[in-house]
Amino acid sequence: MAGIARSLLPLSLSLWASVAVAGDAGRGGALMADRTKSLCVLCHMVPGAAAHLQGSLAPDLHGVGARYTEAELAAHITMPERFNPETIMPSYGRTDGLTNVGRAWLGKPVMAPGQIEDIVAYLLTLKDAP
Ligand code: HEC
Repeated sequence: MAGIARSLLPLSLSLWASVAVAGDAGRGGALMADRTKSLCVLCHMVPGAAAHLQGSLAPDLHGVGARYTEAELAAHITMPERFNPETIMPSYGRTDGLTNVGRAWLGKPVMAPGQIEDIVAYLLTLKDAP
């Protein structure tokens, strides 16, 4: 599995390089805590989020900023299926290859590149293990 992720990563990295500008960690943290905007806390445990908002379907994100580089974090959010083709995590940055997309959302990613940058900036601050 790690081998697959590594061989697919250059694709994600080039996509990330095309949108990379410094994100705002404060905005990213707020976006992640907002269930109506990101849904991250539906599945993940996130440091600082209220107890009733801590998800348990996915890895705990404590320390994720120490486990991955900026580009790897961006790739996880933009195209998580590159790491696990059967993942339940939404592809927040993808617009192609999707089915049953409502007309109003055609061609639009779930999150704008700027929002993903903000979230990555926030994730990079999460250095402490649980
Ligand atoms: C529907 C559930 C779901 C949602 C919503 C979700 N994720 Fe995930 N995420 C997962 C799962 C499951 C994994 C583990 C990889 C896999 O097997 O898919 C994962 C993996 C990750 C990883 C890698 C973690 C590690 O330790 O390897 C990061 C980073 C991540 N998600 C960030 C996010 C962020 C940020 C959001 C919100 C923008 C989000 N996720 C929303 C389910 C979800």
